[in-house]
Amino acid sequence: MGRHRQRIQRPYPTDQTSDHPARFPIPARNLISLGRVGAGVAVVTGASSGIGAATVRRLAAEGFEVVAAARRMDRLQALAAETECTPVPVDVTDQASVDALRELLSSCRVLVNNAGGAFGLAPIAEADDDDWRRMYDVNVLGTMRMTRALLPLLIDSGDGVIVNVTSTAAHAAYEGGGGYNAAKYGERALTEALRLELCGQPVRVIDVAPGMVKTEEFSVVRFDGDQERADAVYAGVPGVLVADDIADCIAWTVTRPAHVNIDLMVVRPRAQAAQHKVHRER
Ligand SMILES: NC(=O)c1ccc[n+]([C@@H]2O[C@H](COP(=O)([O-])OP(=O)(O)OC[C@H]3O[C@@H](n4cnc5c(N)ncnc54)[C@H](OP(=O)(O)O)[C@@H]3O)[C@@H](O)[C@H]2O)c1
Repeated sequence: MGRHRQRIQRPYPTDQTSDHPARFPIPARNLISLGRVGAGVAVVTGASSGIGAATVRRLAAEGFEVVAAARRMDRLQALAAETECTPVPVDVTDQASVDALRELLSSCRVLVNNAGGAFGLAPIAEADDDDWRRMYDVNVLGTMRMTRALLPLLIDSGDGVIVNVTSTAAHAAYEGGGGYNAAKYGERALTEALRLELCGQPVRVIDVAPGMVKTEEFSVVRFDGDQERADAVYAGVPGVLVADDIADCIAWTVTRPAHVNIDLMVVRPRAQAAQHKVHRER
C-alpha cells in the first residue's frame, strides 16, 4: 500500500471537509498521475456510502488504485484514511464536474457506475416530476456521462471493465416503483447497447443487479429522511444482503480473466424470491 501513496498526488488537502464539490475547485496542474501498478486504476462513483464505499474497500484490497468519487468529500476523506483511495468530488449529474474528474486521470482500467438511487414511492397517479427527473439524471445520464468521459482511457488500458450497478428494479416493476423502475430499466438498456457498441474493443461491460440490500442510506434517501419507514423495508427479513455482499460480486466480475464477460449478475437475498415475494420473520 505504501507504494501507492507515492504515486498519487492528492488534489486536495486531506484535512479539508465539505459536503459539496463546489468548495473544491480542482487545480488543473494537480493531475493525478496514477500509474499502471498492481491491478490498475479503478474509479468508483457513489463511493461515499453503501455499496460504493464497500466496493472501494474491496477493490483496494484486490490491489487496485481506487479513485473514490461522490459529492460528500468528508465521507470520502474518511474512506481515504482507511483504504488509501484517492477521494475526488464528483456530481454525476453535472457534466463540468465529470469533466474535472476526467482531467485528473491519466489512466483508468475499471469504472464502477454505482452512483444512483430512488426518490419516493408514489404511485404514478401522484408522481412527482422532479423526483422522476432526478432519478433519470443520476441513474441513467450519470452513468452515460461517466462512461462517455472515461471510455477512451478504458479502451487504452487494453483490458477495460465497466460495471453498472443497476437493480432487480430493472427487471420487474412494482407498485410505487414506476420512476425508479423506468430509470433502472433505462440504465440496463444503456448497458446492453454499450456492450454491443464495444464488441471488438478491449472493454468488458457488466451489469450487476442487486435485489434488497440493507445499506445505511438507500431507503432513507428514498423516503426523504424517514428512518422508521426505511427500517420497515428490511424488517424481519432474515439474511438481508449488505453492501459487502454486492462489493464481493462486483470484485469477482472485475477480476475474471480479460476474455470472460459476466453480462449480468442478479443478486438477491435468499429470503427474496422475487421483487414481490419476500419472506419475513416477525
Ligand atoms: N440498496 C439497495 O437495496 C439497492 C438495490 C439495487 C440497486 N441499488 C443501487 O446500488 C447503487 C448504490 O446504492 P446504495 O444502496 O449503496 O445507496 P446509497 O448508500 O444511498 O449510496 C448512493 C451513493 O450515490 C452517491 N450519489 C448520489 N447522487 C450522486 C450524484 N449526483 N453524483 C455522485 N454521486 C452521487 C451518494 O453519495 P453523495 O450523496 O455523497 O454524492 C452515495 O454514495 C445505486 O445505484 C442504487 O440504485 C441499491
